[in-house]
Amino acid sequence: MKVVAATGAAVEFKIFDWSADRYLKDGTTVPPDGFATLARDFDAIFVGALGDPRVPSNIHAKEILLGMRFKMDLYANVRPVKLLDESLCPLKNVKPEDVDFVVIRENTEGPYVDAGGVFKPGTVDEIATQEDFNTRKGVERVIRYAFELARKEGRKKVLMSDKSNVMTYAGGLWQRVFKLVAAEYADIQSQHMYVDTLCMHMVRDPKQFDVIVTNNMFGDIITDLAAALQGGLGMAASGNIHPGKTSMFEPVHGSAPPFAGKNIANPIGAISTAAMMLEHLGFASESARINQAVLEAVREKKTTADIGGSLGTKEAAESIASSLSRTK
Ligand SMILES: NC(=O)c1ccc[n+]([C@@H]2O[C@H](COP(=O)([O-])OP(=O)(O)OC[C@H]3O[C@@H](n4cnc5c(N)ncnc54)[C@H](O)[C@@H]3O)[C@@H](O)[C@H]2O)c1
Repeated sequence: MKVVAATGAAVEFKIFDWSADRYLKDGTTVPPDGFATLARDFDAIFVGALGDPRVPSNIHAKEILLGMRFKMDLYANVRPVKLLDESLCPLKNVKPEDVDFVVIRENTEGPYVDAGGVFKPGTVDEIATQEDFNTRKGVERVIRYAFELARKEGRKKVLMSDKSNVMTYAGGLWQRVFKLVAAEYADIQSQHMYVDTLCMHMVRDPKQFDVIVTNNMFGDIITDLAAALQGGLGMAASGNIHPGKTSMFEPVHGSAPPFAGKNIANPIGAISTAAMMLEHLGFASESARINQAVLEAVREKKTTADIGGSLGTKEAAESIASSLSRTK
């Protein structure tokens, strides 16, 4: 499928059926050469939300999504947090300019590497371990990515967040590497905050944040909180990036099973993710036009009910598409 924008920019899509439906049909999550094909033949990947109650183990979501992140080494999970309209923020007296930061979540390590075990399962003596991997290489590259992004976007500060007061071994590595890398970026201010304090400040005074870099698990958690500041999970976009390699883009939200088939899910998270992907691919003006169309839809309340509108998913998305087609 080829899509040509009004500007003339063209993007060719190939759609893969990797999903719960396919898994339930033939037991396949990712075909044997799946990740190699993506890395070899494509510039970017756009993934819809995964998760289906018909697959209680969630094995398909894990193998497809975490498979892309880990096996394709997409180490920087970039999650912009931007408030488009005052009405969307659950906090009092917070203006759009007060919520405009980016979270860079380490995406290939931490407790999510699925290492650990269970001893004496099902007994009262059961012991479960979940190992938290932090490598010098992994920590350094994601911190460096955060500083580079700050420079590229003209941002002033990079804040590293961890829990090094109690998780001393992993936190110690993050602390040492952060100081070393920060020293190379004299033009960018560096700062540290424990993750619990960070959560408090994100609610009390989100204006202070610019770029936040943190580990996989803390990044996962704080970006749901951050999404709430911008109007909810239905508004949040993300990119899973390894500079120079095929990167993957997905809305932050999951499949929201209670919404399935009801035409009520907010499409903006996915649409803004598409804008992020286009920018990554070098289509900056097309990306900006999409972001502008989303902004207008939010201001005019041509949206789904979670952010104050009365449209269904399809109608909200069509309204943004038609406003795009009206502008050059
Ligand atoms: N990246 C992903 O694909 C991803 C991310 C998170 C969860 N999941 C999976 O999704 C399934 C459901 O997980 P969950 O309920 O914890 O998280 P979820 O993100 O699907 O939904 C949590 C809540 O966020 C809100 N929400 C989510 N998407 C929305 C949208 N488009 N519009 C408006 N509101 C929206 C709803 O209030 C919803 O109840 C699980 O199987 C989980 O593993 C997948």
